[in-house]
Amino acid sequence: MQHLGLGPSEILPEFLVPVLASFRRQFGEPAVVVRSPGRVNLIGEHTDYNQGFVLPAAVDRGIAMALKPRSDHRYVLHALDLGRRLEGDLRELGPHPLRWPNYLLGVLDQLQKAGYHLCGFELVYGGDLPMGAGMSSSAALECGLAFSLNEMFGLGLDRLTMAKLSQAAEHSFVGVKCGIMDQMASLLSQKDHVMMLDCQDLSCRYVPFHGPVKVFLCDTQVERALAESGYNQRRSQCEAGVALLQEYAPQVHSLRDVSLELLDAHRLEFDPTVYRRCRYVIEENLRVIAACEALESEDLAALGRLVNRSHQGLSQEYEVSCPELDVLAEAAAALPCVLGARMMGAGFGGCTINLVQASQEEAFVQGMAPAFAKIGKTPKIHACAPHCGTERLL
Ligand code: GLA
Repeated sequence: MQHLGLGPSEILPEFLVPVLASFRRQFGEPAVVVRSPGRVNLIGEHTDYNQGFVLPAAVDRGIAMALKPRSDHRYVLHALDLGRRLEGDLRELGPHPLRWPNYLLGVLDQLQKAGYHLCGFELVYGGDLPMGAGMSSSAALECGLAFSLNEMFGLGLDRLTMAKLSQAAEHSFVGVKCGIMDQMASLLSQKDHVMMLDCQDLSCRYVPFHGPVKVFLCDTQVERALAESGYNQRRSQCEAGVALLQEYAPQVHSLRDVSLELLDAHRLEFDPTVYRRCRYVIEENLRVIAACEALESEDLAALGRLVNRSHQGLSQEYEVSCPELDVLAEAAAALPCVLGARMMGAGFGGCTINLVQASQEEAFVQGMAPAFAKIGKTPKIHACAPHCGTERLL
């Protein structure tokens, strides 16, 4: 971290330096500089698109973007870390064959479709979020752009609207039918808190999270190759379960409305895979509520047990883990300094999240070395602290 004397006595992230330098070299002084964070999720995986509960937090890693308006309709996008640049016309938007521009173009498209008037602009972004590690670099990018344009063009959007619009951008231009957890966490988190988010009515409660527990992510460095198709398939399996139950219980609109009793009453009519998917989601929702209570009453051992059980469900019932995630999660859960460990995010690769007793960092790093050796990877461990949501730095 460095002090650049820019923001309101703000300590600015290190990765802002090359972003600003590159912007100034190409375009002069930026009009707006924004930091948009990635996120972790303590518990509540694949529950968001089932209208359930999640317990995420934005973290002290993210993306910084610098922007300046133009007097025409052209956009210039420069992804510093990828060394890529794209120019185009705001009046001719469509999905791009490359992946990275679509998070940005999708947001521009959603804003225009919602009737917001945009002028052209220049943008440079970069950050310290590991790509593809399941820390929501995509949501950080979408939300960062929505937030920046809102500031720069005075669009009058609130954070909730920006979150919905960013999610819609991912559905339409990226093709992933994601839930809303990542965008809500990136935009609406508070420092030193996790967010108990109800994905049905989008209400959230902030629970203090600091002190005795530290969050570490262990990166499998496994490409999340199956992530997109596997993700959308899980989503349709849940929808199939809801459709079946609706025939008996018309009040059911999502798995949020389904109890374990109702599910089990119709077990024999279910395809066994769909049954396991639905059971996992219903149980995971119950675990999020219990985990939130455990955190509020400072019962960290109970929180850890719930996190471990979440991993078992994700691995065995929802089947979104992979051998490397299983090895890292199980090895961590067996360490005395670890309260709980599980795979995090969509799955099929990416990171495990580990709740580690404060001041036990060394023991954790050493304890994980054999597990990384077992999966044939150099240890890659990221320490993360809960941070505030997207903010303007300049
Ligand atoms: C991805 C999606 C989220 C959520 C998680 C799984 O991160 O973007 O909406 O569904 O996977 O919990």
